[in-house]
Amino acid sequence: MDIVTVLKADHRNVEQFFSQIESSSDRALKTKERLFLEIKKELTIHMMAEEKILYPRMLDIPELRKAAFEANEEHRLVKQLLDETSELVCGSEQWNAKLKVIKDLVRHHVQEEEGEIFKKLRHSLSSAVLNEMGSAVAEIKSKSRPTPTNGDARTAV
Ligand SMILES: [Fe+2]
Ligand SMILES: [Fe+2]
Repeated sequence: MDIVTVLKADHRNVEQFFSQIESSSDRALKTKERLFLEIKKELTIHMMAEEKILYPRMLDIPELRKAAFEANEEHRLVKQLLDETSELVCGSEQWNAKLKVIKDLVRHHVQEEEGEIFKKLRHSLSSAVLNEMGSAVAEIKSKSRPTPTNGDARTAV
């Protein structure tokens, strides 16, 4: 599967978590906390994979070089805000504010990736290379998840 397809699926997944958090009631703190942890985990793995596999490749493509630096800075901001949010009381006004800013920042970032970046990437690289990159991202993602123990063998497909 090519890298663009893999990364887009991640984007949709995280967007779903954001909408779930938004539609959960103010008192559903456990749900909010669980969803926030999912968002943090998914985004962290996703950003790491992009920084290892996608952004270095963009540096070699003249029309994507500037975008690679900008995307990397946006990742830094997202990570910083995720860490700061983890320190706050879930559901507090400050927590809500930070989560809103993370969501807006991620939405903007995803729009840029799925607009110009992915389009130019598909123009600049062969489908064989895009597939190779997709496999590399998938490998990083699977290594970043805890290996199921014997007790979880049923779910270890
Ligand atoms: Fe990104
Ligand atoms: Fe992304």
